[in-house]
Parts: sequence; structure tokens; C-alpha cells
Amino acid sequence: MLYATLKTLHVLAIIVWIGGMVFAHFFLRPAVAQLEAAARVRLMHDVLGRFFQAVLVAALLTLASGIWMLGRVAKQVVQSGGSFEMPLAWTVMAVLGTLMVAIFMHIRFALYKRLSKAVAAADFTAGGAALAQIRTWVLVNLALGVVVLLATLMHGAY
Ligand code: HEM
Repeated sequence: MLYATLKTLHVLAIIVWIGGMVFAHFFLRPAVAQLEAAARVRLMHDVLGRFFQAVLVAALLTLASGIWMLGRVAKQVVQSGGSFEMPLAWTVMAVLGTLMVAIFMHIRFALYKRLSKAVAAADFTAGGAALAQIRTWVLVNLALGVVVLLATLMHGAY
């Protein structure tokens, strides 16, 4: 029951995180590109501020639930006298998942901060540059997320 709850939380958090990146990149960004710089940078700053609050929770939940599940499985295997060998798909998930969390922290606490400063100073050129960097790293995280999903869900398929 605990394991199933952890796994459900894990997947729900990932749906919010990856779904939000898809929406921001493929649907929101092209639409706001038509606005003039000040309005575009202000709107994106507001939307991303709200989204990143949710991602902060989702990323920490993903990490915590993932590590907790690993710990439970390892403990059970060891307690029943076996030795725990992590499946390759889980290793890929843990390594790339942790990398995704680190990249998100960079987006939220370095790049988004730069964007906030630019908006406060009404410097929309600097704001646009910060947004472009955020976009690049969000794309990297989206690609990593898709690789993790493929490794996890397609593993063993034939
Ligand atoms: C941050 C480090 C992460 C760790 C330590 C971790 C660990 C785990 C573990 C132990 C499971 C349980 C697998 C099972 O019972 O079959 C799991 C399930 C899952 N994880 Fe992760 N995970 C992490 C990040 C991610 C990320 C970033 C994604 C997607 C982008 C992801 C997608 C999934 C999915 C879809 C499942 C369900 C798989 C299934 O039921 O077949 N995980 N994770």
C-alpha cells in the first residue's frame, strides 16, 4: 500500500512537471512571441513564477518518493538474504532524474532570479535573454525526462 502510494505520487508529480514543460514550450511560448517585449517578458515572468513553485514541489516529491521506493526494495531484498542489484532502467532513472532536479534548481534559483531582476528594473532586453536561457534548459530537462520515461516504460518491451 505504501509502495503503491509512493509510486502514484511519483508519477503524478512527473505528469505535472513534464506536462507543464510541454505546455510552456510548445503552446504558450509561440503564442506570447507575438506580444511586444515588455508585455511578453512580464507575462512569462508571472506564468513561470507560478509554474516553478509547482515544479519545486513536484521535483522534490519525485526525488523523495523515488529514493524511498529504492530504499524499500533494497531493504526487502537484503532482509530476505539476497543482494540488491539495481535494474539498469532504475539506474538510468535515478541518475538522469537527479540531474533533472539539479538543472531545475539552476533554472529556478539562477536564471529565474535574473529574469525577476530584469523585470524589476524594466530591462526587457536582459529579461528576454534570461527567458531564452530558461527556454534552453527547459528543453534539456524535457529531453532528459522523455529519455527517462522511454527507459522506464519501454524497458523489457519486445
Ligand atoms: C529523481 C530520481 C528518481 C528515482 C530515484 C526514481 C526511482 C523510481 C523507482 C524506485 C520506481 C519504482 C519502479 C517499480 O516499482 O517498478 C520508479 C517508478 C517510476 N518512475 Fe522514477 N525515479 C526518479 C525520477 C523519475 C523521473 C525524472 C521520471 C520521469 C521523467 C520517472 C518516471 C517513473 C515512472 C513512469 C515510474 C513508474 C514505472 C512503472 O510502474 O513501470 N522517475 N521510480
